[in-house]
Amino acid sequence: MSASGGLKIAVFASGRGSNVRALADAIQAGIISNSTLSLVVSNNSICGALEFARQRNIPALHISRSQFRTDGEFTASLLITLGNFGVNFIALAGYMKKLPVELVKAFKNRIVNIHPALLPEFGGKGMYGMNVHNAVIERGVKVSGATVHLVDEEYDTGPIVLQERVEVLPSDTPESLAEKVLHVEHRLYPKAISLFAMGKVHVRGKEIIIYE
Ligand code: GAR
Repeated sequence: MSASGGLKIAVFASGRGSNVRALADAIQAGIISNSTLSLVVSNNSICGALEFARQRNIPALHISRSQFRTDGEFTASLLITLGNFGVNFIALAGYMKKLPVELVKAFKNRIVNIHPALLPEFGGKGMYGMNVHNAVIERGVKVSGATVHLVDEEYDTGPIVLQERVEVLPSDTPESLAEKVLHVEHRLYPKAISLFAMGKVHVRGKEIIIYE
């Protein structure tokens, strides 16, 4: 799969869609250069992410495992759809499902995710959205943040592309922390994907090298 003609990005999302918006805005503003938001996919037929995409005339599809008889048919449909839209890069933005292994393999080192904490802490199965911020506050740590990482076959274990820290104040609640981290996400995710768009990210096994 080549990205020499620029990134043709599919965003997979399940919820509110604020990161989809941040990415669409960054592409429009040229912060992510030479790239197109080709498709938004959601497992959730009624969600902010699909609604936003339709408002912006970005192709928006509801594709869910429950629409298919088998895992194989689901995966084949996803791969065909991504091919039809010429997608060569995938960004997960609050996508609450695990991607089929065949899809991860087909897009090796071409799928990123944003996680609302500093991985490898506060990651793994069940660690998504407010669960993450609740756990951070409960543990009493002083620093949290956001992580952009490559997606491998497991939850939240792929090589880290970028991270940014956020201070956790004694007065913070899970909600106030979520707000601060989300603000960082909206800047960090475009920045990370822009590095891919400029061909500055090189992956060697588990190691990521970013050429400045
Ligand atoms: C974001 O905070 C994202 O980091 C998180 O879900 C939220 C989606 O918000 N993702 C995870 O927790 C993945 N493990 P959005 O729908 O407004 O972009």
